[in-house]
Amino acid sequence: MVELKSKAEIQKIAESGRMVAAVLNKLKSMVKPGLITQDLDDTARKMTRDFGARPAFLGYRGYTAAVCVSINEEVVHGFPSKKRVLKEGDIVSLDFGVEYGGYYADAALTAGVGQISIKAKKLMDVTEQSLYKGIEKAAVGYRLHDISSAVQKHAESNGFSVVRDFVGHGVGRKLHEEPLVPNYGREGTGIFLEAGTVIAIEPMVNEKGFDVVVLADEWTVVTKDKGLSAHFEHTVAITEAGPVILTKE
Ligand code: CO
Repeated sequence: MVELKSKAEIQKIAESGRMVAAVLNKLKSMVKPGLITQDLDDTARKMTRDFGARPAFLGYRGYTAAVCVSINEEVVHGFPSKKRVLKEGDIVSLDFGVEYGGYYADAALTAGVGQISIKAKKLMDVTEQSLYKGIEKAAVGYRLHDISSAVQKHAESNGFSVVRDFVGHGVGRKLHEEPLVPNYGREGTGIFLEAGTVIAIEPMVNEKGFDVVVLADEWTVVTKDKGLSAHFEHTVAITEAGPVILTKE
């Protein structure tokens, strides 16, 4: 069952969403060669504490960081570390969520470290564009897999692949709610989208094949073929007035 949110609840999610956006914008500005990735986590924790909020991922199913930091062939759920340093040419995905006053918001972005390759830049751009193609379909009158199909078409028509094993999700009173929001699927299928539905749309797009594996740390997801991967995510409310991105400052 998809739990529909009232306008007041959507405002609460938006409040959490503004915090998520503020943190991610700050973290993005810190991304440069030589940065120790633990610094990203420390900054996120401090900012979240100052907001009086809680980092949503810390302690979630045993995850031990506030921000997921996933570099190059790492797709999602990588760990920040004192031993991991960003280097010129890397791409780094930052995924962050907040809970404030009982409501969650979740977003992600991928940033380039210094000068990056043309291929890496294209992968990042296409992934972000595919997120926005999906968001356009997050409206009354469309069906769930219209979002999925829009994401998939944009990624694949640019020569990339979309991850199957991890998907977007409903979000609000919990970090993960119904419905699941895949980044692949057939137009005109899935549930009819209703006003009051709040979802995290989060394409994970790979340079080469879509297959992924989970490392021995039981969290870090990497591409099987070691190709690059990018990730962009917004929490979006479906309203009578159209899609509203809640993870914005
Ligand atoms: Co998410």
